[in-house]
Amino acid sequence: MLTCPICSAPLDAADNGVVCPVGHRFDRARQGYLNLLPVQHKNSRDPGDNQAMVEARRDFLNAGHYAPVARRLAELAAERHPAHWLDIGCGEGYYTAQIATALPDADGYALDISREAVKRACKRNPDLTWLIASMARVPLPDASLQFIASVFSPLDWAEARRLLSPGGGLMRVGPTNEHLMELRQRLYDEVRDYADEKHLALVPEGMTLQHSETLTFKLTLVDGQARANLLAMTPHGWRASAERRASVVDQTEPFETTVSMRYDYFVLQ
Ligand SMILES: C[S@@+](CC[C@H](N)C(=O)[O-])C[C@H]1O[C@@H](n2cnc3c(N)ncnc32)[C@H](O)[C@@H]1O
Repeated sequence: MLTCPICSAPLDAADNGVVCPVGHRFDRARQGYLNLLPVQHKNSRDPGDNQAMVEARRDFLNAGHYAPVARRLAELAAERHPAHWLDIGCGEGYYTAQIATALPDADGYALDISREAVKRACKRNPDLTWLIASMARVPLPDASLQFIASVFSPLDWAEARRLLSPGGGLMRVGPTNEHLMELRQRLYDEVRDYADEKHLALVPEGMTLQHSETLTFKLTLVDGQARANLLAMTPHGWRASAERRASVVDQTEPFETTVSMRYDYFVLQ
C-alpha cells in the first residue's frame, strides 16, 4: 500500500527495501523500518524528538504510568474494526503496539519523523509497517485508511483527511487543561492554559466530531527517576527553571498529580 514520497507512485518490494516504477529506492533498516523521508523533505538534520526525549518517554510509559490511557485508546480502536490503520506521530510506539494487539487482523502502519523514535518503536511489533516519514506527506494512498490515531502529537489535518476512506475516522488523544496540574503548579508561578478545545477549530470540512470523552486519574510517582522522565518527555523539561525541576525530582516524598486526557473521534462523511 505504500507510495513513493518523491513521486507518489506505488512502491513495490525490492530486495531489502522498496522501489517505485521511476526507480526511487528506499532500503529497509537493519531494525526493520523503512526510511521514507527524503533529505529534501527534512527541515533539519535530525527532525522530531531526540534520543533523550524518546528514551525518557519509553521508560516512563513502559513503567505503566499511562497504562489506562493506552488501554482506553486500544478499546476505542477495536470498537471501530478498521481494515487498515495508522498511528501518526507514533513516537517510540507504546500506544501503537497496544492498538496493534487490539486489532490483530488489521493492517497497521506507524510513522514518526524522528529516527530515534522509529528505531526503538519497530522493536515492539515486527508485524506493523514502521516508517520514518513526515505527517505532512504520508506515503500512503488517498482514502486508504479506516482509522488514524494521533496521540500527544502535532497533526496535519488536511493530510489526515486525505488518507481516510469515507466513514473512517481520526482518534485524537491530547491533554485536557487539568492534565499534570499539580506538576505545572509546582513548576510555574503562573500556570498556562492548555486551551484543550483549540484543535476543534482546525477540523477540515467533511470531518465531524462523532465522539468525545475524558479519562482522568491520579498518578503517584514514587521515585525521582520517573519524575525526571516525565519532565524530560515534555516541554516542561526545558521550559521550567532548573531549580523548580530539581525540587520536583529530588523531593523525598511521593509526588501526586492528575492525568487527564481527552479522546476526540472525527469521522469523514
Ligand atoms: C509528544 S510525542 C508523542 C509520541 C507518541 N504518540 C506518544 O504519545 O508516546 C510527538 C511525536 O511527534 C513527532 N513529530 C513531530 N513532528 C512530526 C512530523 N512533521 N511528522 C511526523 N512526526 C512528527 C515527534 O518526533 C514525536 O515523536
